[in-house]
Amino acid sequence: MTHSTRRQALPLFGSWHSGTFSKCTSKCNDECHTAPSNPRAGAVDDFGAVAARMISRRNILKGGALAGMVLATASLDGLATERVAMAQDGTQIGFTPISASSADSVVVPEGYSWNTFLRWGDPIIKGTPGLTTDYSNLTVEQQEGAFGYNNDYVAFLPATRGGTESDQGLLWVNHEYTQGELMFGSYDPDNPTEVQVNIEIAAHGGSVVEVYRDGGAMYYRRGGALNRRITGTTPMTMAGPAAGHSKLRTNADPSGTEVLGTFNNCAGGKTPWGTILTAEENFNQYFGLPDGAAAPAEDDPVRVDHDRYGVGYGPSGRKWERFVDRFDLSKEPNEPYRHGWIVEIDPYDPDFVPRKHTALGRFKHEGAETTIAPDGRLVAYLGDDERFDYLYKYVSNGTYSPDNTLEENMALLDDGTLYVATFSDDQTGQWIPLVHGQNGLTAENGFADQGDVLIRARAAGDTVGATPMDRPEDVTPDPNRPGYVYVACTNNTRRTEEVGVNAANPRLDNQWGHVIELVEAGNDVGATTFSWDFLLLCGDPEDDSTFFGGYDKSQVSPISAPDNLAFTPSGDLLVATDGQPGGLELNDAFHWVPLTGSERGHVQQFLSVPVGAEACGPEFTPDGQTLFCAVQHPGDGGTLAAPISQFPDPGRGARPAMISIWKTGGGVVGS
Ligand code: FEO
Ligand code: CA
Ligand code: CA
Repeated sequence: MTHSTRRQALPLFGSWHSGTFSKCTSKCNDECHTAPSNPRAGAVDDFGAVAARMISRRNILKGGALAGMVLATASLDGLATERVAMAQDGTQIGFTPISASSADSVVVPEGYSWNTFLRWGDPIIKGTPGLTTDYSNLTVEQQEGAFGYNNDYVAFLPATRGGTESDQGLLWVNHEYTQGELMFGSYDPDNPTEVQVNIEIAAHGGSVVEVYRDGGAMYYRRGGALNRRITGTTPMTMAGPAAGHSKLRTNADPSGTEVLGTFNNCAGGKTPWGTILTAEENFNQYFGLPDGAAAPAEDDPVRVDHDRYGVGYGPSGRKWERFVDRFDLSKEPNEPYRHGWIVEIDPYDPDFVPRKHTALGRFKHEGAETTIAPDGRLVAYLGDDERFDYLYKYVSNGTYSPDNTLEENMALLDDGTLYVATFSDDQTGQWIPLVHGQNGLTAENGFADQGDVLIRARAAGDTVGATPMDRPEDVTPDPNRPGYVYVACTNNTRRTEEVGVNAANPRLDNQWGHVIELVEAGNDVGATTFSWDFLLLCGDPEDDSTFFGGYDKSQVSPISAPDNLAFTPSGDLLVATDGQPGGLELNDAFHWVPLTGSERGHVQQFLSVPVGAEACGPEFTPDGQTLFCAVQHPGDGGTLAAPISQFPDPGRGARPAMISIWKTGGGVVGS
């Protein structure tokens, strides 16, 4: 299947949201992301020329200086599959980079093996049947006991809380969104049935699954005692400063503290106390008005709030509002305020009631990677994945201790300060606190209280002058170098000349994305100032606008649309892509990227996923011998009746699936 065919299939998903009509059903990549809702898109537009000069100078100085040295040992045929891969300390690492691929299969380096061990519809809960080959026995009850759709974030938790086991453990996996056209033999996006809608609601959320390793490969334990499905109807509590706020109250929940379900869970993070955080991203797509229902006036305060988050006042793409009142904006106008949060789940406790932590703000959360400041405070890095939206971090007031009770540590996420980032052209930046009464976040400016600041975190960021970014995705602190943080800005093709660029987002029509390296002042993640630089300006290495940490561009793998980030056992960065097909006509990938020394920026492709798929997850076991990848939306662009991928099972429609990757014969991945 050629790529042009796949691109032509995209209208299946409709266009992106407009202010009045919501058509997009899914999708994190640039093809169908929601329209920018930030009226400040063009703010901070004077620094592009500065950044361009800075990048140009670095390419000449660093790239040029290294070029001769590296060329002497390298083969330059195509994508350089014969290259010797190097770790950041300059030693040889244990894989030969793969060529970029457009095949309908997983590709790993020579000497590595992989297996598929968990697919959409595989039974998790005891007594749940498996899916038939044509998926025709899919029911709400089956889905509620089975692995959900579109696996995204992956967290491995050792078998015992706080332990280091790698052969036995729990896997938490997000189920970001559903694709009816790939799930049901007959699916009319304009007229989904009530049963189809309820199956899709049950296929959202996440899964806890017991896993074990045997002969290098990972497997899941059907009916495991701790196996659990979290879905779009699982009861959850609101916690923190906005819990019970008047904006969170609905007819179904006058308390504003009890909410059903979690949607569009994209990436996440693990806490030091052994729980996981899951991030509610493009939640706006689930709400709408049934055909013929009247929209409120454009200056209606609730509508103004929802406009800033891309909630459309027309029929939604999914049409859930036809069947479930809480998705109908005419019946429950406040329900969207109850989504767009970071949710904590304790995988070790099957009875734990998931908790939406409002202190971490409400936006289209990509993830929530945590770390501990030198003084013991918990820090969470947060991206708002929308064109021209912002980068945030949260710092707790209290301090973490392994001796605290679980409740005491969880409460660190309910009492602290949310900050938003500003980037300056001198490569410094500031974290601006979003605290009611400070920096213009006052009643006079429309912010009633701290709960309101958090519920409308985007508006708070607008008010304090945050820097509009090119879709911040994963924001990941380096576990080995204190204060170093990596920010994936996936792409932004709406950064037009009219809008302009800024220092940290220096390219017009940024179709390939970039990765920023941020260094907190004093190497203290609790600091309120930082310096920054570019690690990568992604794209075709032959394009003048790209930058690979100063590495010789003729020696690197092409990379586009960085999304998930993880650190490898060797301390390098693993960059997963979402949208590489659109940017470079290549399947999505994992790329290995050394960060220091002469190998800095030497991007080397480790993995390719099948046609239409996004490469999600990267997660290692504590011993570094297993790497997990969530193969999300394989066959995206096709339908169950007319598939463009048969991953992972030939003869069947494509299914999102979990794979594990290991070094054949054993050893640390990448060693
Ligand atoms: Fe769901 Fe921002 O990727
Ligand atoms: Ca994504
Ligand atoms: Ca993502």
